Amino acid sequence: MTTKIFKITPEDTSNPAISEAAEILRAGGLVAFPTETVYGLGGDAADPSAAKKIYEAKGRPSDNPLIIHVVRPEDAERYAYTNDAYYRLAEAFMPGPLTVILPKKDTVPYETTGGLDTVAVRCPSHPLARALIHAADTAIAAPSANLSGSPSPSCGTHVIRDLWGRIDAIIDGGECEIGLESTIVQLKDREAVLLRPGAITADALSCVCEKVTVAPAVTELLKENERPLSPGMKYRHYAPKIPLVLLEGEEENVLHFLRRAQNAEKCTILCYYEELALLRNERLIDIGSEKDLAAQAHTLFAALRRADELDCDIIYAHLPPTEGLGLALYNRLIRAAAHTIVHV
Ligand code: TXA
Ligand code: MG
Repeated sequence: MTTKIFKITPEDTSNPAISEAAEILRAGGLVAFPTETVYGLGGDAADPSAAKKIYEAKGRPSDNPLIIHVVRPEDAERYAYTNDAYYRLAEAFMPGPLTVILPKKDTVPYETTGGLDTVAVRCPSHPLARALIHAADTAIAAPSANLSGSPSPSCGTHVIRDLWGRIDAIIDGGECEIGLESTIVQLKDREAVLLRPGAITADALSCVCEKVTVAPAVTELLKENERPLSPGMKYRHYAPKIPLVLLEGEEENVLHFLRRAQNAEKCTILCYYEELALLRNERLIDIGSEKDLAAQAHTLFAALRRADELDCDIIYAHLPPTEGLGLALYNRLIRAAAHTIVHV
């Protein structure tokens, strides 16, 4: 299959490429598109065969449900049973990087929800994503547009590398602003359970929800045979091919450890901007300032992809803090590292 590539700027919402891509979606095809979080691999959410094609193109197990993308929060009514708590969250955070799990209606086939009776709804803020959903005139089911097991794509080039030849079209709108996938919450009475941390932090959620709890699988390893609240949690995600080890400890000890490692082994280091001058300039990848978690979120997945392309035996990175946006970085990195943490 040849894949059409439409390279357009994020503001160019009236570009004819949008209606061409929408036409492909309506005909049951697949289109990758940018969102403010990461790129999505889209298909018509109401079409069971589109969902099957998505799983196939990604090489993803078909029990891992897809998120459906709508233009306005109230568009969810067609696909899900909403409630007051949903609208309170929508008022505060939509359009934006938040996904809410709701009971599904019959309009969403089980192929899209991986057999679940619930559906994940998200209302993205990226202008091209919004224009595409609007033009397709249906909800778009979309997982992240990477091959299963590799980091989510935070720019068009990543999508082209992973999915060229496997899908009908790619809208390349450049870099995604946030760089990490959306926050996912499940609503239980007055409580919000955080299933996947993202740019909408637990603190931000607690301004709107009476109680916010973090699902254990966000920070911990699932026990054998344990069923996670979100099926995606059981997979080893974002995994570089080269082993990744996370370092925890005082900055001075971490630097000491890394300097010794640079002399002893062929390692790549995902370092803070402030450390660039303090380590030997060899296979160093700058992930942003230690104090700027948003910058780190923006570069993390690109950094993991780059590290994987370098000739080395091991990759080191800092274990992020678990506060604020740090929790999202922590969650992605412990999965990529398969929970390998060294205390120095
Ligand atoms: O930012 C994002 O959320 C991106 C962009 C494209 O919107 N999408 C994304 O999709 O990250 P994906 O498929 O890579 O991750 C969706 C996660 C999976 O872990 C899946 O298990 C979970 O959402 N999920 C989807 N539907 C669910 C449901 N009904 N109940 C629980 N978890 C669900
Ligand atoms: Mg994904």
